[in-house]
Amino acid sequence: MASTSVYSSFELLFISSLLFFSQYFILSEAQGLPPIVKGLSWTFFDSSCSKLESIVRKRLEKVFKDDIGQAAGLLRLHFHDCFVQGCDGSVLLDGSAGGPSEKTAIPNLTLRKESFKIIEDLRERVHKECGKIVSCSDIAALAARDAVVLTGGPNYVVPLGRRDGLNFATENATLNNLVAPTANTTTLLNRLSTKGFDATDVVALSGAHTIGISHCTSFTERLYPNQDSTMDKTFANNLKGSCPKADSNNTVNLDIRSPNIFDNKYYVDLMNRQGLFTSDQDLFTDQRTRNIVTSFAKDQKVFFDNFVNAMIKMGQLNVLTGGQGEIRAKCDRRNNDKKVDIATVVEELEETFSALF
Ligand code: HEM
Ligand SMILES: *[C@@H]1O[C@H](CO)[C@@H](O)[C@H](O)[C@H]1NC(C)=O
Ligand SMILES: *[C@@H]1O[C@H](CO)[C@@H](O)[C@H](O)[C@H]1NC(C)=O
Ligand SMILES: *[C@@H]1O[C@H](CO)[C@@H](O)[C@H](O)[C@H]1NC(C)=O
Ligand SMILES: *[C@@H]1O[C@H](CO)[C@@H](O)[C@H](O)[C@H]1NC(C)=O
Repeated sequence: MASTSVYSSFELLFISSLLFFSQYFILSEAQGLPPIVKGLSWTFFDSSCSKLESIVRKRLEKVFKDDIGQAAGLLRLHFHDCFVQGCDGSVLLDGSAGGPSEKTAIPNLTLRKESFKIIEDLRERVHKECGKIVSCSDIAALAARDAVVLTGGPNYVVPLGRRDGLNFATENATLNNLVAPTANTTTLLNRLSTKGFDATDVVALSGAHTIGISHCTSFTERLYPNQDSTMDKTFANNLKGSCPKADSNNTVNLDIRSPNIFDNKYYVDLMNRQGLFTSDQDLFTDQRTRNIVTSFAKDQKVFFDNFVNAMIKMGQLNVLTGGQGEIRAKCDRRNNDKKVDIATVVEELEETFSALF
């Protein structure tokens, strides 16, 4: 009997370690995922906030059912957060360049105001369930992932444990770290290589333009005064219809084939000279990236695998971890920026009362 039970607990240990290693294997090896930085973890909130990911996912399912366009806004918000000062929620702070407050917003950066509200709403739901332990930057990273998944893109794991930064994204930091849509491939490759991205990463990340919209002013320099000769003629004429003047205040879809679906049609657009920005279209013109574009257009799985890889890398740019930064109580301000805010007072009162009863 004794030997049997020893044997079975050995068996149990063996099975559970198999499970442990196979989970690790599935997460890091089989998907060939990039390494994670010190301080982040694949299982960061597994015991302290096990519902985190389902809270975010369920809420966004509802948000996107009402307006699928919000998915693109959230994906872009995470990109801007990560490229400017690292994924530290700095873009969310009121006063950040490119942020939601009118006086500081850089017009050509045009992040959607709703995106900021959605992140704050998610933060509130998560903190209500788990307390103030999840950062706004982690929530933005999860929201971006769910934006991809819920529009038909690949699912992937997000390493968590980011802390929120204390500094605004200044206008200079914003302009210096983001590339203009007028940039060519040389500029894109040079600028993104400083953040550790290779040509495949650059082409894969640009594939985020398979969803979402652009304002006319982001591309009309390709139409007026002279039409960019690399652009398909019918596509150009249709864009002129949507943007009759260089400064028309309209928007067009980034991917004409399937504007709200996360698929590889963006690369098919490029092969047909229907890329919206110079920074998109030049990826097919430039010999260094042309074959990568073609391979993604031919095989969606190849695109998805490379996109996941690049997103996990992007999501770890200059993150704050451990005791750095803070966990913000409100995504648009630092914890010690005490504004008298009725909503906060009410929320704190509610917390006090729910703790009492
Ligand atoms: C690499 C260079 C990139 C350039 C030059 C660029 C440029 C732009 C521009 C100009 C817009 C339109 C803004 C407007 O006029 O409203 C836009 C939209 C968008 N970008 Fe990029 N982008 C780049 C990379 C990325 C990356 C890495 C991601 C995400 C991983 C991304 C995701 C998006 C999304 C989803 C939209 C649509 C936003 C919406 O519908 O609200 N972009 N991008
Ligand atoms: C921003 O950059 C410009 C030019 O690159 C420079 O002249 C200016 O002093 C910078 N401003 C700040 C506040 O750093
Ligand atoms: C945005 O516009 C400003 C001024 O119009 C320009 O200096 C800047 O390069 C543009 N930035 C991007 C990322 O397009
Ligand atoms: C790309 O753009 C940069 C900066 O505008 C310019 O100096 C360079 O000549 C361009 N390269 C090509 C191949 O067009
Ligand atoms: C541009 O259009 C948006 C909504 O479509 C509107 O909120 C905004 O005020 C307009 N801006 C200008 C300068 O007309």
